[in-house]
Amino acid sequence: MKVLIVGSGGREHAIAWKVSKSPKVEKIYCAPGNAGIGQIAECVDIGAMELDRLVAFAKEKEIDLTVIGMDDPLVAGIVDVFEKEGLRVFGPRKNAAIIEGSKAFSKELMKKYGIPTAQYETFTNANDAMAYLETSDYPIVLKADGLALGKGVLICHTKKEAKEGVKTLMLDKQFGSAGDTIVIEEFMTGREVSVLAFSDGKTVKCMTSAQDHKRAKDGDQGLNTGGMGTFSPSPFYTKEVEQFCNAHIYQPTIDAMAKEGRPFVGVLFTGLMLTEHGVKVLEYNARFGDPEAQVVIPRMKNDIIDVFEACIDGTLDQVELEFEDNAAVCVVLASKGYPERYEKGIAMSGFENFDGQDGYYCFHAGTKVEGDQIVTNGGRVVGITAKGRDLKEARANAYKATEWISFDNKYMRNDIGKAIDEVERR
Ligand code: AMP
Ligand code: GLY
Repeated sequence: MKVLIVGSGGREHAIAWKVSKSPKVEKIYCAPGNAGIGQIAECVDIGAMELDRLVAFAKEKEIDLTVIGMDDPLVAGIVDVFEKEGLRVFGPRKNAAIIEGSKAFSKELMKKYGIPTAQYETFTNANDAMAYLETSDYPIVLKADGLALGKGVLICHTKKEAKEGVKTLMLDKQFGSAGDTIVIEEFMTGREVSVLAFSDGKTVKCMTSAQDHKRAKDGDQGLNTGGMGTFSPSPFYTKEVEQFCNAHIYQPTIDAMAKEGRPFVGVLFTGLMLTEHGVKVLEYNARFGDPEAQVVIPRMKNDIIDVFEACIDGTLDQVELEFEDNAAVCVVLASKGYPERYEKGIAMSGFENFDGQDGYYCFHAGTKVEGDQIVTNGGRVVGITAKGRDLKEARANAYKATEWISFDNKYMRNDIGKAIDEVERR
């Protein structure tokens, strides 16, 4: 079969790599892709938000299955557009992708169906939000309702900071219409865990757990980024926590969406916080996480095409998801300056070091081909993933492999997976 993948990050490279392992697949296209994806797929120069061009391409090439990696096209309704043309596509429809596209929607859903999450209020008017802040406890969390490249969440330690935050989001419109509505939420503390799950709208099957490192600098300092590295599984996601989440979070969420007439088909990504008052949902996403996908997908044993098809066909109950009994760590190599200003177009080398190295992966994110050279083309440049028998070994392997890739201004965090040591000391 012919498969089209929409997106251009490390997540899409991991998906493309896994799709390439399926004996059912004869050809992979990726729009727009990147230099690494180009080694296993044919990259086509169509942007992920060019819905009409993507549909026309899929029809022209007689694509059997399109997999949407990114959030923006999902929230914009790419799945509906493809389905209308009779094309098979993996991902939630617009009315279900809203679970990521609107934080006000997802908070309301959780409240209505008793799914554990932080206390909150929603505001569509800056004056009302300002008034609310007068009597709030601090710290407090402000969230732009819409998509904001993962930057629409402000943790405010004082009333003054929070008021500035409301101004930034609602009046200055730093994230455009994403800030027309905001959610103001109770601040929580605890360990974060990402759990990705497949759903066909009725059944939900979880993948192995992962943990992201969102801040730019070691020790969780610096600005929030798309994610600087991940490890999987999370040792904090115990059997007990898992059972609680199965009973009170994942299936109730899928049932709630179905009940609302918004059946969720695709990957439901639940961001959890393990607080001292129990497990709470931080957020939902309607797609694989990036860089969570880079540690979860390499550990997956199933043919991913079978799972995509089962979700679309409503037969996920017949699939047994299987993961390897090992661990994986992904360290993102970024451009110095990310997530703010950074240079692009810097020559890269060392990719051949990964040839024939089982259990080591270089997933490209911001790279492109220029002449006969691969150059940097984004903030997050590549994700270096390695497996190991346990997290400690996987981390050592991943950091070893970070040395195989060279480019000027290469920047990474040195403490990805450091939490693992904490568990071992207990
Ligand atoms: P979100 O996009 O909602 O996951 O938020 C991004 C990040 O902000 C999360 O991964 C957390 O680190 C942090 N965050 C979000 N909501 C809260 C909260 N209520 N309390 C503390 N931290 C939060
Ligand atoms: N790594 C967080 C995300 O994909 O949203």
